[in-house]
Amino acid sequence: MSALPLELRGAGVRRDGRLLVGPVDLRLEGTGVTAVIGPNGSGKSMLLRLMHGLERPVGRVDWALPEAEARARQALVAQRPIVLRRSVRANLAFPLRLAGLSRAASRARAEAQAAAFDLGEQLAQRATSLSGGEAQRLALARALITDPEVLFADEPCAALDGRATRAIEARLARAAATTHVVLATHDMGQARRIATRVVFMLHGRVAEAGPAAAFFAGPRTPQAAAFLKGDIVE
Ligand SMILES: Nc1ncnc2c1ncn2[C@@H]1O[C@H](COP(=O)(O)OP(=O)(O)O)[C@@H](O)[C@H]1O
Ligand SMILES: [Mg+2]
Repeated sequence: MSALPLELRGAGVRRDGRLLVGPVDLRLEGTGVTAVIGPNGSGKSMLLRLMHGLERPVGRVDWALPEAEARARQALVAQRPIVLRRSVRANLAFPLRLAGLSRAASRARAEAQAAAFDLGEQLAQRATSLSGGEAQRLALARALITDPEVLFADEPCAALDGRATRAIEARLARAAATTHVVLATHDMGQARRIATRVVFMLHGRVAEAGPAAAFFAGPRTPQAAAFLKGDIVE
């Protein structure tokens, strides 16, 4: 199984004449979890926004498909779960209805997805009344319901407790069997637990990238080594 390839060449985001992120050269393909790590303000969120098409790029951000098609095959989950002021069932059925599925088929698929994300009891509950952990499970379940090839997740567990975090991690790891999960996280424990690849950001640029096991066993750059030790990296 190979998810949609994405290639960044000299890519970045410029604001007020300043390059917030970039230039970045990076190729993402296949499945698994790519953890985007780095200090606060290093550009993790901006890199995800750039890849997801939410920022006007400098340089090139190329999907292997026309932009509209590529867009339909990717999804984003944010730190604060975004849910519609409707039932859990309606939240899950919504992207399927948009994709043209019938009402009955959307409903059936929504109910199966709710069960898979441990939200079966909350189907009729208003999504805005869910707990933080439940709301994030819902946001993730909804993002994955259309089987995207790439899922961007920006600090999805930052506002959650340990138990809710593990529940999200388990679902991300499962999704990564068929999807390329691009996970921005400041939680190195999380990156060690579920990343298959690492992109280490520093000052808006990729300082080091490679397989997670090798990175955590012995990073090549002194900056990454310092970051892993918990030192403040300048
Ligand atoms: N909307 C914005 N306008 C201007 N600068 C921004 C904006 N968002 C982020 N930045 C700046 O871009 C840089 C990268 O930020 P961000 O991607 O949020 O970092 P991270 O997610 O790694 O903490 C920082 O210097 C930040 O101050
Ligand atoms: Mg961020």
